Amino acid sequence: MRPIIVANWKNHPATLKEAKALFAATKAALEKARKLALIIAPPAVFLKDIRSLNKSSRIAIAAQAATWDEEGAETGECTLSQLEDVGATYVLVGHAERRARGETDDDVRKIIARALHVGLTPILCVGEKVRDEQGVFYKTIRDQLREAFREVPMQKTAHVVVAYEPVWAIGGSRPMTPMEMHTMSIFIRKMLHDERGKAGLSVAVLYGGAIDETTALQMIGMGDVQGLLVGRASADPERVKKLLGALAILK
Ligand code: PGA
Repeated sequence: MRPIIVANWKNHPATLKEAKALFAATKAALEKARKLALIIAPPAVFLKDIRSLNKSSRIAIAAQAATWDEEGAETGECTLSQLEDVGATYVLVGHAERRARGETDDDVRKIIARALHVGLTPILCVGEKVRDEQGVFYKTIRDQLREAFREVPMQKTAHVVVAYEPVWAIGGSRPMTPMEMHTMSIFIRKMLHDERGKAGLSVAVLYGGAIDETTALQMIGMGDVQGLLVGRASADPERVKKLLGALAILK
């Protein structure tokens, strides 16, 4: 499996022109990083344009958020089928910044079920706000995973991607260590295996939070992850060039 890099542009850049330039810079940098698969999550308003620019089979497009409803009186929301219709094949679900704005585990469960129904691959984001010495944070992760997978049919288990993103690392100056991630990966896989048997072991696990060109390679090499979810370092043409450049060494 190719390591996956999810480029979460959040609400950058400011204009469509800049979004197109960021896409071009990203695509050029990806040409040197031959081993990677890239998923770009642009702001919804740019999604269709970025999708039409994209001719690469190594780049897929993700929506950053969606409602679980099929259609209805929800001012400002986008449905999963609308996003699929304009070119998304993935959708981020339960990102910490969405949870902070009120997205609940219940919403996450419904969005995942609906995404699978319309044929989008959900990238489920889980992560604790703080780490405590007693390990209560493991319970947070287990509860988030359990709830999110509740309506996922057994045979679709491996269609969900899990991105572990400790909230305390997102937007910060350094990620957690690859060894800490390694332990967390084992925990997530064991939990999914306990709940879903062998299929649980085929779920891709990503790390996200403060990754840049100085930490990406080590995290992929030693963190027991199938890829990375990157925010700031993916949303700037110079930074994405450095990030993907650092991963060009992967064979
Ligand atoms: P960051 O964001 O890489 O800027 O820390 C990660 C994320 O929010 O997914």
